[in-house]
Amino acid sequence: MNLQAIAFDAYGTLFDVYSIRTLAERLFPSRGAELADLWRSKQIEYAQLRTLCSMYRPFWEVTQDALVFACKKLGVELTLEAQTQLMGQYAKLEAFPENLEVLSQLQALGMKLAILSNGNPQMLEAAVAAVGMQGLFSQLLSVDAVRKFKTAPEAYQLGPDVFGVSPKNILFVSSNGWDICGASWFGYRTYWINRTNGPFEELGVVPDGTGPDMWALLEYVQKNRTQG
Ligand code: LAC
Repeated sequence: MNLQAIAFDAYGTLFDVYSIRTLAERLFPSRGAELADLWRSKQIEYAQLRTLCSMYRPFWEVTQDALVFACKKLGVELTLEAQTQLMGQYAKLEAFPENLEVLSQLQALGMKLAILSNGNPQMLEAAVAAVGMQGLFSQLLSVDAVRKFKTAPEAYQLGPDVFGVSPKNILFVSSNGWDICGASWFGYRTYWINRTNGPFEELGVVPDGTGPDMWALLEYVQKNRTQG
């Protein structure tokens, strides 16, 4: 398939958005996991709705709005201090444990690596720096440049534009099923990281590759980068 570049989704794929559960649990005992899950799903819903209605706001603000809603919905009080702590942790999420090593090995294979994310540039720079991934990516592509969130085609177009190749020669990697569907429909090769062994979306899309973690992705790229 002659792969020339790999574009990664950020949140949930490189950075563990659910690592926030521990802090959420400390702030809101017995509600932490529920809060983290609702926060995440509202964040995505708001991003998609804002794109559908051309009402773009930077992802940081969308994330904050989703947190406020999630707390109201669960009936827990979000003090200014709790909000500052949760958003502060969101700014420097943990990476999944194997990510650094796998990204270095992919880079050593000669792959150009990029992040293509809904996150606004400051968020992405802070997140990458917090986990020591600077130097691994040739591009941090933020949809902020087109003021439309994924799954808008304009957002996915950032990848082919920056690498100057067809999306067929770029592997788009995400843990989010909806993102894999959007990227596949756009024309990318896609690899779904399914860390939770969950079902794939019922949208008529089959990812080109699937595996449980970044090690599986590395194996897939080693085997498939020049075939087809
Ligand atoms: C990202 C989020 C949506 O684009 O996962 O990084």
